Parts: sequence; structure tokens; C-alpha cells
Amino acid sequence: MRSRKFFLSIVVLVSLIAVFPTFAQDNVGSGLTIGFAQVGTESAWRTAFTAATIAEAEARGINLLYVDGQNNQDTQIAALRSFIQQGVDAIILAPVVETGWDQVLQEVQAAGIPLVIVDRNVTADPSLYFTRVASDFVHEGRLAAAWLAQATAGVCNIVELEGTVGSSAARDRQIGFNEVISLFPNMHILLSQSGDFLRDGGYAVMDGIIASEDMAQICAVWSHNDDMAIGAAQAMKDHGIDPGNDILIVSVDAIPDIFLAMMNGDTNATVELSPAMAGPAFDAIVAHLAGQEVPRNIAVSGGLFLPATAADEYARRTQQ
Ligand code: AHR
Repeated sequence: MRSRKFFLSIVVLVSLIAVFPTFAQDNVGSGLTIGFAQVGTESAWRTAFTAATIAEAEARGINLLYVDGQNNQDTQIAALRSFIQQGVDAIILAPVVETGWDQVLQEVQAAGIPLVIVDRNVTADPSLYFTRVASDFVHEGRLAAAWLAQATAGVCNIVELEGTVGSSAARDRQIGFNEVISLFPNMHILLSQSGDFLRDGGYAVMDGIIASEDMAQICAVWSHNDDMAIGAAQAMKDHGIDPGNDILIVSVDAIPDIFLAMMNGDTNATVELSPAMAGPAFDAIVAHLAGQEVPRNIAVSGGLFLPATAADEYARRTQQ
């Protein structure tokens, strides 16, 4: 009789676990120590991504060792070495640039620590990390260009505000954008300069261009992120140009401030880069540590947002 009761309890317990898998998910990773080497605080998207990662770790009971890389690869390399010394269970690396990671990633692997790349890519041997959680930057560039092509009927001289030189986000967005505009013989990039993904950088580049170029020849600004777009729009306003009208602006990220800018008519379109990469990264680490097969690439998706939904998007993204 007793053993029958015991057997029934086991059956009920197993059924509950099967019926409520999300309950177990909430605690995935509890007790792990994970090092997180972040790029820095260059953009509102980046700080939202950091905040989401810290919140997700807290919710799961993960001890997250966070290091702000200050947009500097050497700082990030030093962070990885300190994670090795501290004997973390896993590492998440959001690399500032693509190249120069081979040596330190080999050290991480030699220490037996699994590593996930998030967001921007690295050129290092893929066997040095077990997965990458990221969006498709080439696709983002294509979406931005496709919107601009239809908005201008394929006739437009463009200023490009590039992100951080050497980052895969800047390079791949540029590739995707150029691929689409190359289909339109009357769409050209007139000028391309880096604003380093910074709002001040976008302002400074645009300010310089307004001082040196004939702005009547320019139809649009293609900015690799929203912060530079907002900086460029401000520079235009300071010089009596009406951004979003005299000159169209399309960018990437979908941060709350870009929806405000669209509501004011200052910018025209943004492609979303989701900051929700921590959940998939933590899940991948737990699965990998449990010996499960993890896909080499885990995609996060975005989409194109226009002024028509800007007010709703702003409200949705800023409500507590
Ligand atoms: O790597 C992604 C890019 O980095 C974001 O688009 C930009 O805002 C950030 O700084």
C-alpha cells in the first residue's frame, strides 16, 4: 500500500513538471556564476541591454559579474582574464570589435570555461565559443535601405553615419544597406563617417557635414543607430534644417527616444534591434553545462517601425 502511494506521488510530481515547464525555466541557471564582458555605455540600446541582462540574472538567481568594457577591447580582454582567475562557470562576451580575440578565447577554452558571444561577432575560430546570440545586422541594413528606396522612389543621395569602426554591427549593416541600394542606379552614398554609435558623435559628424557640404544635394541620412540619428537631427535643427522633412532619417535600434523623435517628425524610420538576448544566452549556458546540444547561432528578431505607430510604441516601451 505504502509503495503504491509513493509511486502515485512520483507520477503526480513528474506530471506537474511536464505541465509547468515555464516554472522550471524561471530558475534556469540559479547558483551559477557568469562573467559578462559588455561593450560599454555608448548608446541607449546598450544600456537597455545591460539592464535587461542584470535583471534577467537576478530573476534567475545567477551571480552575474558585470564588467563595462568602456568601448575598449583591452578592457574587455582584461575582464575575460579576471573571469578565468575567479573560476566562473561561464562567460558572456559582447565584443566591441571583431578581430583580436583569438589569444584570450584560447585561454578561456584552456581553462574549461564555456563562452557565449552576444550581439556583435568575432572573427576568431568558432570552436572557441559554443554559440552566438545575435540579430542579423545585414538584414537590418537591407530593411533600412528598402524603406528608403520606396520612400524616395529610388532617387536619393545619402549621408551614412557609421557605427564603431571594426565592429561587425557597423560593417554588416553597411553591407546590407549597400546591397539593396545597388539595385537602384540613382541611390548613392555621398559621404560616410563614423560617429562611433554615440549621440554626440552623430551631432559632430552632421555639424561638420553641414559646414562643408551643399545640403541641397543630400536627400537622406542613414544612421547605423538611433542615438547618432538623434544627434544628427539636432545638428540639422541648430542650422535651420528641418530633419525628417528636408532630409529623411532612417536608423537602427528602436530605442524609446527615436519614437519620440518620430512623433515630433524629426526622424522617419527605425529597424528594431531587440535587447532581449540575456534569456536565450543563459538558457544556452545551462543547456551546454548539462551536456545538451545547443545551436551554433541563436537569432533574435526585429522589424521596421514607422511614425504611424510611434506613439503606441513609445507608450509600450516606457510603461513600467
Ligand atoms: O552592436 C549593436 C549596436 O551597438 C547598436 O545598434 C548600437 O546602438 C550599439 O551601440
